[in-house]
Amino acid sequence: MKMEKINIGLIGLGNIGTGVVKLLEQNKALIEQKLGANIVLKKIADIDITTPRGIKTDKYQMTTDAREIINDKDISIVIELIGGYEPARSFLLEAINQGKHVVTANKALLAKHGNEIFQAAYKKSMDIGFEASVGGTIPIIKTLKESLAANNINSIIGIMNGTANFILTKMTDEGKMFDVVLKEAQKLGFAEADPTFDIEGMDTAHKMAIILSLAYGKKVNLDDIYVEGISRITREDIAFAKELGYRIKLLAIAMLKNNAVEARIHPTMISSNHLLSNVNQNNNAFNIVGDASGPVFLFGQGAGMMPTASAVFSDIIDVARNVLKGISGRVPLRSIDETVMKEIKLIPMEEVETKYYFRFSAVDRPGVLSKISGILGENNISIATVIQKARFENSAVPIVMTTYKAKEKNVREALKKIDKIDVSMDKTMLIRIEDELD
Ligand code: HSE
Repeated sequence: MKMEKINIGLIGLGNIGTGVVKLLEQNKALIEQKLGANIVLKKIADIDITTPRGIKTDKYQMTTDAREIINDKDISIVIELIGGYEPARSFLLEAINQGKHVVTANKALLAKHGNEIFQAAYKKSMDIGFEASVGGTIPIIKTLKESLAANNINSIIGIMNGTANFILTKMTDEGKMFDVVLKEAQKLGFAEADPTFDIEGMDTAHKMAIILSLAYGKKVNLDDIYVEGISRITREDIAFAKELGYRIKLLAIAMLKNNAVEARIHPTMISSNHLLSNVNQNNNAFNIVGDASGPVFLFGQGAGMMPTASAVFSDIIDVARNVLKGISGRVPLRSIDETVMKEIKLIPMEEVETKYYFRFSAVDRPGVLSKISGILGENNISIATVIQKARFENSAVPIVMTTYKAKEKNVREALKKIDKIDVSMDKTMLIRIEDELD
């Protein structure tokens, strides 16, 4: 029996693009058997088509002009793997307007210009595959769009940035310094071109914006997500966390509370027994709690050539299956029909209630503790534990306190006052605690 043929075009032959070509070479027979059709990578575009990538490119039509792919009538699926906002945005929109389905790993683009791109695709009845945009190889997009479609998503707690997780792991387990570990992560190739995106939580925010829209079927404004990175975390905080039975992770936290959604990204102390505490190195994980499913835990490589190529290819296969059946939009682009997607107002950070770890830096003098605890009490913050180790007359000592649940707004008020008292030597360190996770 003669098999049908699907032509695809690849824009961007970087690390992931090269992985996609390698995976096609490696598993072509298997992929085609599953698809029941031949898959032909007709053209590859990149601004650099001469640097060797460890793959044979002579059997593909190589071009430096992406529009040779976008305007090619025989190509039905365009894969965009160049990253960044432009020209990626224009390429995707042009491809969609040319009647092509698209596959992309571009989280920053979808987080910022998702509404424009998804709506363009919806109008033209084109599919968009974006599994690789969040969590690398982990099938989080499909899980939210399809597997858990019948659930209210009570919460999603994720470790979504490999670089930040790698840094925290090395600082915790090997006592290494922040800057040293960051350099290691950059060498290993999973940090973003600008690593502040990783460290300061922006990369996680991009991913969070995408999954929030799928989990709640609503448009999310990226700027409404509270974002705090890991650059302030010291080895001292890591040691105190250990003593308290916690590990520090950069968590993305989405929670459904009385029909409203809380979405925040910040370093978080979690019980060292929780599964997420044991997600180390550059691994990513998602703990999703559906109202019917209960907890669902997904774990894997959030970056890297072949793991990410695996996710890109799952989209190519999905879209190709639709092409073969002559259909599109069977699964709505963002889990519900684009016409019914509304804006979502996230709960403001000031209204969030959680537990806190404070590390005060104060002169060790009589009355200091009572001053601090007095201000906390006035602001409705109840202390759970206190640790004060050394006692050096008139020198700064760390006083560590953990609290019961308190309102962020009250905590900010209290710390503003505490940081102004005359015995306070430095800004108070605040880390939020989540020790009641499913
Ligand atoms: N820089 C990202 C990370 C790569 O460290 O997780 C994957 O998005």
